[in-house]
This record gives sequence, C-alpha cells and structure tokens, in this order.
Amino acid sequence: MINPFLTGNKIYLSPLSKADISEKYISWLNDKEICRDNSHATFPNTRSKTIAYIENLEKSKDEVAFAIRWKKNDMHIGNAAMQKIDRVNRSAELAIIIGDKKYWGKGIASEVYQLLIEYGFDTLNLNRISSGQTLANKGMIKVCEKSGMKREGVLRQILYKEGKYLDAGIYSILKKEFEMKRKGKK
Ligand SMILES: CC(C)(COP(=O)(O)OP(=O)(O)OC[C@H]1O[C@@H](n2cnc3c(N)ncnc32)[C@H](O)[C@@H]1OP(=O)(O)O)[C@@H](O)C(=O)NCCC(=O)NCCS
Repeated sequence: MINPFLTGNKIYLSPLSKADISEKYISWLNDKEICRDNSHATFPNTRSKTIAYIENLEKSKDEVAFAIRWKKNDMHIGNAAMQKIDRVNRSAELAIIIGDKKYWGKGIASEVYQLLIEYGFDTLNLNRISSGQTLANKGMIKVCEKSGMKREGVLRQILYKEGKYLDAGIYSILKKEFEMKRKGKK
C-alpha cells in the first residue's frame, strides 16, 4: 500500500498530494457523467487548478482530502474529503468522487463513508457529520442511508446542471447515533 492513512477491506485512503496529480485525475473533474450530481465540470479543470487545490489543502485547517486506492493494485480511483471541519461546533461534511467508472458499484463509496465517519467521530472528536446529495443520485442516497445518516431536509433547486435545477437532500449522523449503530442498536 502507498502511504495508507485509513484502511478498509477493498480500498484504502492515502493523503491526497501533488504526486497523485495525473491526466486521469484532472479529467475526472471535466467529465459530465462523473460530475452530473456535483458542482464540478461547470468551469474547466486544469493541471494548475488541481495543483493550487492541493497546495491550499496542505495548509487548510478545515479540510482533509484523500486519494481512494484499490488495495489489490494501489490504483488511484477517486477522491474523498472531509470538508468544513468546524472545531467549535464539532461538525464536518463528507464528499466523494469515484473517477474510474470501472470501479462504480463495487461497494467502494459505502466503505469510504464508513471509514470517514469512524475517523470523524473517533479521531477528530466530531459530533455531527453530514453529506449533501442530489435527489437524483440514488447511489449516494443509499450510501448515506447505509452509513446510518438521516435525511434532515431538502435544499430546493440548489444545483444547476445540464439545463435543469436539481434538489439536494442533506443527510447527517450524530455521534450518539453512530455509537448506537456501533453497538448494534437502532
Ligand atoms: C455515486 C457513487 C459515488 C456511488 O459509489 P459506489 O462505490 O458505486 O457505491 P456502492 O457500490 O457503495 O453502492 C451503494 C449502494 O447504492 C447502490 N447504487 C450504486 N449506484 C447506484 C445507482 N446509480 N442507482 C441506484 N443504486 C445505486 C448500490 O447497488 C449499493 O446498494 P447495496 O448496498 O444495496 O448493494 C459512484 O458511482 C460515483 O462516483 N458516481 C459518479 C460521481 C458521483 O455521483 N459522485 C458522488 C457525489 S457528487
């Protein structure tokens, strides 16, 4: 494994660094299908924008981002981040993109969310972890629900993609709910 930070069954997460920048990674954020439910692929992504993002990330106190790597071949297949880390209110938001389409539908997003939620509660001492998904993104809604998150509400027409406004569901899990889930209670 290459610099593993959080390790799951099929994947592991390593700190996202400039060494991860490849034409493949840059192109994920320009791909309309990969980004159909997020704010990327609206303005073009470039190598210099990706370098600037990672340089800012290394200085950031409110975001940590990881390269998602497939354990069997160490391949960089996507990114995941814990964003808006708020040390007073002890909250943060999760985000994920699986750029390599061959790896969709293999349970990776579910594993990544599980690892990040455990990291958020057990290591960062957070109290609330949330994730926003368009209501069209059935896969991510399932991932949030499987992770023990509850839908809090809907942000109406929050995202404009391909000529349409999309609604997004806000999902969250609290520390006490995570502890109950860990103990096997509802
Ligand atoms: C959406 C995405 C993150 C899901 O990741 P994934 O690793 O494929 O998800 P999982 O394999 O963990 O799937 C979780 C569940 O959702 C279901 N699911 C996955 N994609 C689905 C889809 N498009 N429609 C309906 N259900 C779907 C899976 O069958 C699985 O259900 P199960 O646990 O009952 O078997 C991934 O496909 C992706 O990156 N897509 C493009 C970019 C994107 O949408 N990013 C996320 C937010 S912007």
